[in-house]
Amino acid sequence: MARLEEACDVERFDGDGVISHDELVARVAGKQGLIAMVTDMVDRAVIEAGTSLKVIANAAVGYNNIDVAAARARGIVVTNTPGVLTDATADLTWALILAVTRRLGEGERWVRTREWPGWAFDQLLGMELRGKQLGIVGFGRIGRAVADRAAAFGMTVAHTSRSGDGIPMDRLLSTSDVVSLHVPLTADTRHLIDQAALARMKRTAYLVNTSRGPVVDEAALAWALKNRLIAGAGLDVYEREPIVHDELFALENVVLAPHLGSATSETRTAMADLAVRNAIAVLSGEAPITPVT
Ligand code: DGY
Repeated sequence: MARLEEACDVERFDGDGVISHDELVARVAGKQGLIAMVTDMVDRAVIEAGTSLKVIANAAVGYNNIDVAAARARGIVVTNTPGVLTDATADLTWALILAVTRRLGEGERWVRTREWPGWAFDQLLGMELRGKQLGIVGFGRIGRAVADRAAAFGMTVAHTSRSGDGIPMDRLLSTSDVVSLHVPLTADTRHLIDQAALARMKRTAYLVNTSRGPVVDEAALAWALKNRLIAGAGLDVYEREPIVHDELFALENVVLAPHLGSATSETRTAMADLAVRNAIAVLSGEAPITPVT
């Protein structure tokens, strides 16, 4: 805020939670720059109301909350924050992989009931990672950072990617012991993991999603988890955040995190810093640092 205030007049949303769409439409009028969060829907209505806008700086790497085509049509630069959140998101992905394969959520809930009877030889047996295959869907910065960490756990890695290298999606799904999603949300990736995809996975396999909720058909996932079509899932993102598919709450074989991927102090500071530098650069007539291309 201090950096922004040195460079321009700043109006800030200070309310609780997320600014309403109506308020965003009303307040964007007359502003040259907008710094947005993933929870702010910067759709055509907002962009059309922002007739003076030069830049929309998203404080996130994902930008499915912004109608980039509408912005581009009006010559508005859209920026995001790639790179600075790669490690934090890859670490959180591994936290979910470990939590779901070692049944940490179930165990933690049990201890908190004060009814855990103590150690037992066959209690809460999970899946060992060494020697297993990690399937990475989407081999960009975050997918690669998740892959880099796999060697430490003795896992082999297979991946798919937009550029066509890696293995076909069907093969990845049918051979991986853990499938981890790292694709952006686009028309092509919406419900990429549907009932048919889940049916292709091994019954002993786990699904982890730290990308965007709508990449997974949540109703199909709940059905697959309930019917033990797959062994478990670790989710950080949901189809209709903050709403979570009701059936997931009753299932022991799913770990539910509240969109924590980039949530470290270091990373959130770096994201804020990059979003601010992008906004100031464009407003000063300079090239944006990390434009959405
Ligand atoms: C992102 O950056 O896209 C995350 O989901 C929010 O930090």
